[in-house]
Formats: sequence, structure tokens, C-alpha cells
Amino acid sequence: MVAALATMALAASTQTENRIYVNSEDVASEESLRGLYERWYRLYRPGGDPANKEKRFAIFKAEVRAVYELNQGDTRVKHHLNWFEDMTQGEYAKYFANCSPREIRPFGDIPEMNRHQPSQYYPDKLPRTVDWRTVEGVLTSVKNQGNCSSCWAISAAEAMESVHFLKNKQRTNLSAQELVDCTPNSYGCKGGWASRAFQHVIDRRGIHSSEQYPYVGKAQYCDPPSVSPVMSIKKFHFVQPRNEKMLMDAVAHNPVVVLIVGAETMNFKHYSGGIYRGPCGMDTKHEALLVGYGTTPSDDSNDPGAEYWVVKNSWGDSWGEKGYMRLARGHQDYGGLCGIMLDPMYPSHPKKLNHAYA
Ligand SMILES: *[C@@H]1O[C@H](CO)[C@@H](O)[C@H](O)[C@H]1NC(C)=O
Ligand SMILES: *[C@@H]1O[C@H](CO)[C@@H](O)[C@H](O)[C@H]1NC(C)=O
Repeated sequence: MVAALATMALAASTQTENRIYVNSEDVASEESLRGLYERWYRLYRPGGDPANKEKRFAIFKAEVRAVYELNQGDTRVKHHLNWFEDMTQGEYAKYFANCSPREIRPFGDIPEMNRHQPSQYYPDKLPRTVDWRTVEGVLTSVKNQGNCSSCWAISAAEAMESVHFLKNKQRTNLSAQELVDCTPNSYGCKGGWASRAFQHVIDRRGIHSSEQYPYVGKAQYCDPPSVSPVMSIKKFHFVQPRNEKMLMDAVAHNPVVVLIVGAETMNFKHYSGGIYRGPCGMDTKHEALLVGYGTTPSDDSNDPGAEYWVVKNSWGDSWGEKGYMRLARGHQDYGGLCGIMLDPMYPSHPKKLNHAYA
């Protein structure tokens, strides 16, 4: 498994868009499941350890049957095989769905200057649709955290990349590894807090690019290069929780780090498209980047007039809609579906720094 996960993390940037679908023939017999495993293994575990491959076939079979069952239900949401298929539910929950131990700070305790101040468009003149994927340069490629609960660092780095581009027009992959290794009072690959990552960048007056401090997917000693960091931020802001319009207003400005509670479910693990409506579990906390919202057209034959958020995840591009998820909006009273409105935050005042490769 260690070897398999290592290959997977490194394969993140070269992953193909190939999808493996499950049909009734695939689940019909041991032979057909074996054939499917061979196909899946070639795609997601090339060069994997043969002993491990044999050992994990039982897990794979159970996952495939579960995916098949999921697709017999609500047809508005799709589930395909992705690279989680030889991981038990426990492994998936531990490394991928549970990377933020954070307790939510009461909004009342947050100073005014650290709160998102609503724009003139709030609450009734907000844009109908916001999608930062459509604005060239704002978002970098989808990352894969690998065997490291670093969602908090990746989403914090991506939020800073976005505000940096919007203000300074510089495109950079920022170093999530530097945040994993160096953020005080966090647990590195065992989880952490995007807010502490932002605070660390403020205190250290900068963050390096991922070319300068590459992602390895395991915790190391904090060892930033001696060259100047590429950018810094001065502040970060919390968005009022449980307020859908306020979160829409914030994401209309720039991408926002959000909490995702309960991503440990089978449905979430195998989500491959459509608007996710749950279930969400209770046990785990994940962080991801909110990059927009919208409503499907009223003549959409599959799912008309549905309101959704757009979330950029850090599980590679074989998961979801090329690494992204559309999650149903609403559920205001409960903090949004999967708690998405419970603790949103974003960095501000990005400053471009001089560095050797500028
Ligand atoms: C992931 O890495 C941790 C150490 O960082 C190790 O203890 C664990 O066994 C690994 N898990 C898998 C499934 O490879
Ligand atoms: C960010 O990294 C990806 C590979 O992970 C690369 O394809 C992309 O070009 C990089 N973007 C920038 C702006 O350096």
C-alpha cells in the first residue's frame, strides 16, 4: 500500500482522464471482476507490488459492487471507479476525508477587521453564476494529496495562488509542502488548519513556489530554500457562517477555503459527476477550495434548476468532475450540505516578492 500510494501521488500530474465505468457484466462473476481489476490496476497502480495487488483484490471487489449499487439509485449523480478502489473505507477516511482537526471558532470572537465585509451587491444583486475555472490563470491544476492529510495546506496554498493572480497577475503553484513542514501547531501529514497556514505565511512574510519547495506527500523537517519566497499575504478573513448569500458574495471576490464535514461516505468517495446531495457523514473534517456557484438550466434534462456550489478538491483529477465537485446549495440551517457554510475563510493583500527567478 505504501508503494501504491507513492506511485499514485507522483502520478497526479500525468493522470489521464480515462474513466472506468461499472456495468452489470463487470459485477456478474469473479472472472469479470478480475478483468476489471486488471484494467483498473494498469491505469491507477502501474508498476504496483504484485503481492499487494493480490491482497487488495478483495477490497476492490467490494468497492466495485458498492459503486454498481450506488448507480442503481439517484441517476442525477454518477459514480465511477477512481484511484480509491483498493483502499478500505477506513484508509480513505483517515488519509483523505479527515485532514482538519479544527474546532470552529465562534464568529462573534472574530475581530471586525478579520471578517468578510459584504460588497455593494450583497444580498440581492449577486451574480447568478460565479466560476473561477472559466477565468484563465486564477486556478492551478488539481493536486493530489497522496498518503498525507494535507488538504488544509493544499487548499490554503490554492487560495493564496488565486488572490495573488487576481491582484498581481502572477501564476504560481505555491508550496503546500512548506505549509505542511513549517506551519506551527499543526500536524503536518496528520492534519492541520488553513487558518494557521495563512497566519504562518503572514508571520514568515512569505511562501515559496512548489518548484522551489516541491510536494513530496510526507512530513519533513521545515527547510525552506534560502531564495526569497514568491509572495506573501497580510491578512485573512472569515466569512459569516450559515449565510449562503454572504458566502456567494465572498466567492464572487475570490476563491474561499471551506470546511467539508463527513466526506467519509461511499457516495462521496466515488462521486464522479452531477450535483452531490449527500449523504454526508459526521465523523471527518476536510478542507477544500470553493471556486464558484451556479444553477443548472431549467431545461437541463438530467437535473433542471438545481442550485450548487463548485468545489476544487485535492484528490487528483480522477475523482469527481476532473477533480471538482458540484455540491447542492441550501441546507442553510445546518451550515450547508456537508457543513460547507460552517467556517469559510480566505487570504487577502497578496504581495509579490522579488526572487531569483522573477
Ligand atoms: C501512510 O503513511 C504513514 C506514515 O506517514 C504510514 O504510517 C501509513 O502506513 C501509510 N499508509 C498507507 C496506507 O500506506
Ligand atoms: C503547476 O503545476 C502543474 C503540475 O502539477 C503544472 O502543470 C503547471 O504548469 C504549474 N503551473 C504554474 C503556473 O507553474
